[in-house]
Amino acid sequence: MISQAVLEKNRGSSMIRQMFEQGQVLRNKYGADNVYDFSLGNPDLPVSAQLTAALIASAQEGRHGYMNNAGYPELRAMIAGREQQRSGRPVTEQGVVMTVGAAGALNIILKSLCNPGDEVMILKPYFSEYLRYCENCAATAVPVDCDPDNFLPLTSAMEQALSPKTKAIIINNPNNPAGVVYDAAFYEQLAALLSRLKQPVYVISDEPYAQIVYDRTTVPSLLRYFPNGIVAYSWSKSLSIPGERIGYVAVSEDCADYEDLCQALVFCNRSLGFVNAPAIWQQTLLKLGDYQPDLTIYQQRRDLLYSLLTGLGWDCYKPEGAFYLFPRSLEADDQAFAQAAAEEHILLVPGRGFGMPGYVRLAYCVDEAVIHRAEKAFHRLTERYRS
Ligand SMILES: Cc1ncc(COP(=O)(O)O)c(C=O)c1O
Repeated sequence: MISQAVLEKNRGSSMIRQMFEQGQVLRNKYGADNVYDFSLGNPDLPVSAQLTAALIASAQEGRHGYMNNAGYPELRAMIAGREQQRSGRPVTEQGVVMTVGAAGALNIILKSLCNPGDEVMILKPYFSEYLRYCENCAATAVPVDCDPDNFLPLTSAMEQALSPKTKAIIINNPNNPAGVVYDAAFYEQLAALLSRLKQPVYVISDEPYAQIVYDRTTVPSLLRYFPNGIVAYSWSKSLSIPGERIGYVAVSEDCADYEDLCQALVFCNRSLGFVNAPAIWQQTLLKLGDYQPDLTIYQQRRDLLYSLLTGLGWDCYKPEGAFYLFPRSLEADDQAFAQAAAEEHILLVPGRGFGMPGYVRLAYCVDEAVIHRAEKAFHRLTERYRS
C-alpha cells in the first residue's frame, strides 16, 4: 500500500487537470473546434526563431555534463547583474541559483527556510500548488483574505495571519488567477508591517508572469523593497517553454543569514533530486542575453475576452498582468457553474481551487479565434442565469 497521505492529497488535488481531462472527452465527442478550453495556463505562442537558433547552437556545442549544483557561473553572473540593477541591492553570482522552473525554485526556497511547523503566508487567490510545496517541507500554509474589488490582501487579515511562527510570505506577482499586479505601495505597506516583527520574515516573489503585463504596468522589484526578499523566476511563460523547466532563485547580500541561505539553496537543489537546472537551457539563455519576445498579443486577448464577459454582465476584474481572468461565477457554487459551462463546451476552473469559491478562472493563452468561436456559447451560458 502506498502512502496514505499521498493518496488522500492526490484525490483532492488538481481541478485544473480534471477539467483538462474532461476537455479531452468533449473534444473526442464534438471535435476540437467545438470545445472552448480556457482551463490550462499553457502558453500557445510559438517559440521565436531566435530562441530555436540559440537552442540548436547550444546543442551543437555538446556540453551536457554535470556542473556546479547552482548552475553555470557565467549565467548566474548575468542574472545577478540584472537583479542588482533592478533592485539597487548587492546581488552577485553567489546569490543566484538556477532551478527547474519556478516550481523547483519555490521548493528549494521553502525547504531551505522552513522547520516543520513553520508558517508560510499565501495571498488569496493563490496558486494551489503552494499548498503542496508547503506540505513538502512540513510547513503550514496560512491563506490571507483579500478585498474582492481589487484582490489586494486586507491589512487586517495580514496582521491576523502573522505569528511568531511566520517564516515566509509568498507573493505571486502578477497573480495567477486574478491578474492583479501588486504595486510599490503594497510592498511599502507590507515592509512596514514586517518591520514591526521580532523575527525576520522572508518575502518570496513568484514571478513567472513578470514580463506579461499590460497598459505600461511594471512589476516592482521585490529585492528593492525587502532586504529579506527572495525572487523565484521562470521562463516557462515568457518564452512559452513550460515543459522545458528552467528558472532561478535570486537573493541579495542584504538578506538575513545570506551565506547559510545561499548554501542551503544549492544543497536543496541537489538533495531534492533536481541536481541542477537543464544544461542546454542555461546555455541557450546565455546566448539569448537580453532578448525578450513580443508578448503584446496577450493584451489583445485580454481585451477581447474581458469585453465579451463584461458585455454580458459578468463581474470581472480587469487584469494588469498574467493571462487569466477571474470573474465571479454566475451562481454561488463555482463547481456547479463550471459544470454548466462544460455543458456549453466551455472549460474553466472553479475558484475554490485558488482558495476563492464563487469565482472561476479562464486562461486566455489561446488563439483569438477560440474566443470568437466561444461567443455564442458564453451567450447561452449567461442566458441560463437570466431570470
Ligand atoms: C503562479 C505560478 N507559480 C509557479 C508556476 C510553476 O511554474 P514553472 O512551470 O516555471 O515551474 C506556475 C505555473 O503555472 C504558476 O502559475
